[in-house]
Amino acid sequence: MELRTIETQNYTGKRVFMRVDFNVPVDKGVIIDDARIKASLPTIEYLLQKNASIILASHLGRPKGTPNPEMSLKVVAERLSNLLGGKEVRFIPDCIGDAVKDAASKLNAGDIMLLENLRFHKEEEEGNEEFAKQLAELADCYVNDAFGTCHRKHASIYGITKFFDSVAAGYLIEKEVAALTKLLENPERPFLVILGGAKVADKIGMIKNLLDKIDTFITGGVMAYTFIKAKNWEIGESKVEQDAVPLAKEIIREINKRHLEFHTPLDHIITDRISPDSHYFATERGAVPPNWMGVDIGPQAIEEYTDCIKRAKTIFWNGPMGIYEIKPFAKGTIELAKAIGETSAFSVIGGGDSIAAVNAAGVADKISHICTGGGASLEFLENGSLPGIDLLKK
Ligand code: 3PG
Repeated sequence: MELRTIETQNYTGKRVFMRVDFNVPVDKGVIIDDARIKASLPTIEYLLQKNASIILASHLGRPKGTPNPEMSLKVVAERLSNLLGGKEVRFIPDCIGDAVKDAASKLNAGDIMLLENLRFHKEEEEGNEEFAKQLAELADCYVNDAFGTCHRKHASIYGITKFFDSVAAGYLIEKEVAALTKLLENPERPFLVILGGAKVADKIGMIKNLLDKIDTFITGGVMAYTFIKAKNWEIGESKVEQDAVPLAKEIIREINKRHLEFHTPLDHIITDRISPDSHYFATERGAVPPNWMGVDIGPQAIEEYTDCIKRAKTIFWNGPMGIYEIKPFAKGTIELAKAIGETSAFSVIGGGDSIAAVNAAGVADKISHICTGGGASLEFLENGSLPGIDLLKK
C-alpha cells in the first residue's frame, strides 16, 4: 500500500493539524502507560525540524460528547513536554471556538499545542462535517498518526481531510501499515495466529480473512471457550460469547476443510470464583467440570502452544490466555509472551493485555512489531485497510 508520507509535503512555516491517538490509560490523574505518546514522537520531531508549528488533537476514553475532567488531555500535555526534553506543549482547554482559533493563529514555527479531548463534543464521533471544518480551519496541513483510531469514521480522522490540500500519514501509521501488510501479503510460513481474550465476535472476522494464509490457529480465554462450546464440549461455568458460537462453528468447518492446525487448550486452570484469593487448580486433559470455570490455560496447553510458537516463522497475537489482570490466572499469557520473545519469527502483537504481558515478561524489545491499536490492527487484517488510512493513500 503506497501512502502519502510526510516526507513528500512541504511544512516550512506551516501550521499542521496532527491527529494522534493519545488514548492512554490514566488512573487518578496519572498516566499508567505512555507508549502511545512515545510512538508519536518521530513524526512530531520531524515536523519541528521542518519549522512547522503543530496543533495536536486526540480523544481520550469515551466521554460520550460531554466534558469530563477525568478524561482531560492536560496530563498528556505535561508528559509530552517531558518526553520532548522540557519543551513547552501548550494545553488548550477546548478544540473548537474563537479562543482556540486565536491560539492557533499565534503559533510560531516550532511551537506545539495540544487541544482538549475531541470527544467532549459529540460531533467528533458523529463525523459531523461542520465540526470537521472548524478543526480544519486551525491549520494549513493535515497529518494523521493516530493508527489506533483509523477504524473510526470520526470527524478528525475522516471528514476533516477534504478541507486540506496537504494530507499525509505520519511515521507511526507508515510503520503499522508496513508490519500488518507483511502479514497479509508476504507471511513466511508457518504462520501462527494466537487469539485470546474477550470481544470474540470482533476478533474472529479477521481469522476468516486469514484462513488461506495461516497454518496454525491457537485460542485462549473467552475465545477458546466459545470455540470449545461450538464443538459441544463441556465448559462448566466458563465465560463464552454465545452470539459468536455459530460463527465459531463455521470457522471450525473452514479450518477442517483446509486441514489447518487448530488448538483449543488441552487443560485448564479452573476456579469457582474470580478473585485473587480463590481456590484454583489445573484440570487433567479435557473438559472443564460442571460448576467450575476455566480462567487460564493449563500446563499441558502451555507446552503445546510453546511448541507451536517455536515452529512458527510468522506470529500474530492478540488477547490474553486467561484473566490476565488476576495474578494467579496470568501464567499462560506470560509464558506465551516469553516463548514469542525467544523465537526469531516475525512477530506482531496487538491488544492491551498481550502488550502488558510482553512488557511483564521483559521481552518487548524482542517483538518485531507492537501495534498501538488493538481494534484497528484486527480490522486492518480483516479488511486489508482502514477508513482513515484509505484517505492517506497516494
Ligand atoms: C483504542 O484505544 O483502541 C483507540 O484509541 C480507539 O478508541 P475507541 O475504541 O474508544 O474508539
